[in-house]
Amino acid sequence: MRRFRRLRASEEMRSLVRETRLSKSELIYPVFAAEGENIKNPVDSMPGIYQWSPDRIGEELDRVAESGIAGVLIFGIPAHKDETASEAYSENGVTQRTVRYIREKYPHLLIIADVCLCEYTSHGHCGVVCGHEIVNDKTLPLLAKMAVSLADAGADIIAPSDMMDGRVAAIREALDGAGHVNTPIMSYSAKFASGYYSPFRDAAQSAPSFGDRRTYQMDPANGREALREIADDIDEGADMVMVKPALAYLDVLRSARDRFDLPIAAYNVSGEYSMVKAAAANGWIDEKRIVLENLTAIKRAGADIIITYHALDAAEWINE
Ligand code: PBG
Ligand code: ZN
Repeated sequence: MRRFRRLRASEEMRSLVRETRLSKSELIYPVFAAEGENIKNPVDSMPGIYQWSPDRIGEELDRVAESGIAGVLIFGIPAHKDETASEAYSENGVTQRTVRYIREKYPHLLIIADVCLCEYTSHGHCGVVCGHEIVNDKTLPLLAKMAVSLADAGADIIAPSDMMDGRVAAIREALDGAGHVNTPIMSYSAKFASGYYSPFRDAAQSAPSFGDRRTYQMDPANGREALREIADDIDEGADMVMVKPALAYLDVLRSARDRFDLPIAAYNVSGEYSMVKAAAANGWIDEKRIVLENLTAIKRAGADIIITYHALDAAEWINE
């Protein structure tokens, strides 16, 4: 008889034959940097997550630095929003100041800068709006400016999340033109129009004031199209690509892993986090067990890099 149970007899034996292991060095923690002073503002829909002003964000970054994870993904929340997202590319914007601060005080943390206009526009869309249209080609130069200004501030990796066509090429050209030839682009290539982002929109104050994001983010039904989006971003010069959300799109992650050879990131998004936290708070699930199972599933499906709000907790639970 074939006895699979022989290799399951003890934790030592199971560990010996384990196919997938989590490591702190592949985890990235999202951080929200808000304009203002003395702010540590809890995000109600995301227990444990806060908005931080530049004078206090060090409290959170100390924890990140001690945790041993790879780095942070920075989202800025400006005080002033307008039609052209001017704070997104202003030298003294809250995001730029925060990136400079991290670069100076935490030289070993990787800084990934999210590049998108929605936190900075008065209407909350990820691009320039004319009438009710989100205009692709007018958005590209603004994204390119934002990318350059965050690279100037010291970001290690530029991560465009807007889903405009042609943005990777536009950003690559602008970075190169500004002398940032060595700054990689991690593109949110397969980003779906997902209900799982709603807690994030509270955290980042970036909900669209009209309509939704379905004319630029992908239809959740389209797995093959996701592979075309990824292939196109690679052609345009992406150094790493991303699938987002992670858990409801593990099939996309697996197909991408099988087809492409560059590093693939998966974003375990806000709604995925909030559902786990809510169920755990009710005592319905074992939080540690569920988080490690979810992260292992994301890795098993093919992710090299996992962006997750659970990163600091997970780092305490992972011993590698
Ligand atoms: C901004 C952006 C979003 C997320 C990351 N970058 C929200 C959105 O597209 O509406 C979602 C992250 C999360 O839900 O954790 N474009
Ligand atoms: Zn956006």
